[in-house]
Amino acid sequence: MPFAHITGWGMHVPEPVLTNNDIAKMVETNDEWIRDRTGIRERRIAREHEFPSTLGVEAAIKALQVANLAPTELDLIICASSSPEYIFPSTACLIQDQLGASKAGAFDLQAACTGFIFATNMAAQAIRSGSIRNALVVGTEVLSRFVNWKDRNTCILFGDGAGAFVLQASDSPGGVLSAVMHSDGSGADSLTLLGGGSRYPASETTIHEGKHFIQMDGKEVFRFATRVMGRAVIEALEPLKMTTNDLQWIVPHQANYRIIETAARYLKMPLDKFVINVDRYGNTSTASIPIATAEALQQGKIKSGDKIVLVGFGAGLTWGAMVVEWTGPIPAKKHVHPEQYRRFARLRSFVRRAIRYIEGFFSRREL
Ligand SMILES: CC(C)(COP(=O)(O)OP(=O)(O)OC[C@H]1O[C@@H](n2cnc3c(N)ncnc32)[C@H](O)[C@@H]1OP(=O)(O)O)[C@@H](O)C(=O)NCCC(=O)NCCS
Repeated sequence: MPFAHITGWGMHVPEPVLTNNDIAKMVETNDEWIRDRTGIRERRIAREHEFPSTLGVEAAIKALQVANLAPTELDLIICASSSPEYIFPSTACLIQDQLGASKAGAFDLQAACTGFIFATNMAAQAIRSGSIRNALVVGTEVLSRFVNWKDRNTCILFGDGAGAFVLQASDSPGGVLSAVMHSDGSGADSLTLLGGGSRYPASETTIHEGKHFIQMDGKEVFRFATRVMGRAVIEALEPLKMTTNDLQWIVPHQANYRIIETAARYLKMPLDKFVINVDRYGNTSTASIPIATAEALQQGKIKSGDKIVLVGFGAGLTWGAMVVEWTGPIPAKKHVHPEQYRRFARLRSFVRRAIRYIEGFFSRREL
């Protein structure tokens, strides 16, 4: 049975920065309150022409560059997003097209902020089964478009950005070692975005009632997160007969500094073993874990051979954790340039659209 290694990683965030002081001009709040309660100082906000697919593609190209893998070699693309571009088509298909990943099957996975862990686990399982060799997992968000900028309970928390992993099959031991995935739909009400689905299709009423905004019972979510995070880490370690002493790093979902502190206390681990960047990006939902991982790698914190745990929680309710032995890119003689495939991708997409148009024209004449 092949092992599923994480061989590439990348992140991309939009340039515009929104500080706590900027938010204090919109709602009654202040920098000190936000920093004390959440640890957040600033977050990034996507510009008008930026979407989950475009942010996701930037992160994906960086991940493919690290892995030294051409987009055309991908067998599978899973995109986790809490702010997908449309209900359908999937954001994964838009990413597949923009990358020119011509042979990849692509689909979205919805597990809110835990989505990246669930998606990485699904990709790893597909590789472990032997059915595919190369997968791309993307977590990407433009949550700022679903935030009610008049609601101080939620608008202080969220930010935009994207992160991606490349997973590849290898016979060498390592990579994704174990994972746990959990859900509890009885807590579905505590964090929601109700409008625009089939229960509340978009209408004047849904807009008037603010159903197209994120709604949250902050205290309830806080209690849930602090209850499940530490336990999920232990649960993922148990089948491997590992303890927290065997870990070099924990990369938690970046929702709130105090939630991470509580998990560290539960696990009796020092906070400096946790990768934390919530202060600079806020909660980027599915993108937060790959962004934090990519930054930790850039800063030389996570090294090849390290054993790390990724752990997350979110709406649904959902939560999960994953133990990874970090290996990095598979050594290769040939050097590929994934970024150069973009031009090919644009051309490929144009030609396919043109063929579809011409086929449609002639088939209409035949009818
Ligand atoms: C949202 C959160 C920061 C609020 O912190 P809290 O300590 O629970 O604060 P409370 O909701 O109890 O509010 C305390 C007071 O501050 C006020 N307050 C709320 N937001 C405020 C803000 N942005 N600025 C100033 N005051 C604020 C409240 O109105 C309340 O005032 P009151 O006591 O007069 O009613 C916190 O609950 C949290 O982080 N929850 C988890 C959310 C999360 O991670 N969601 C995503 C999961 S993936």
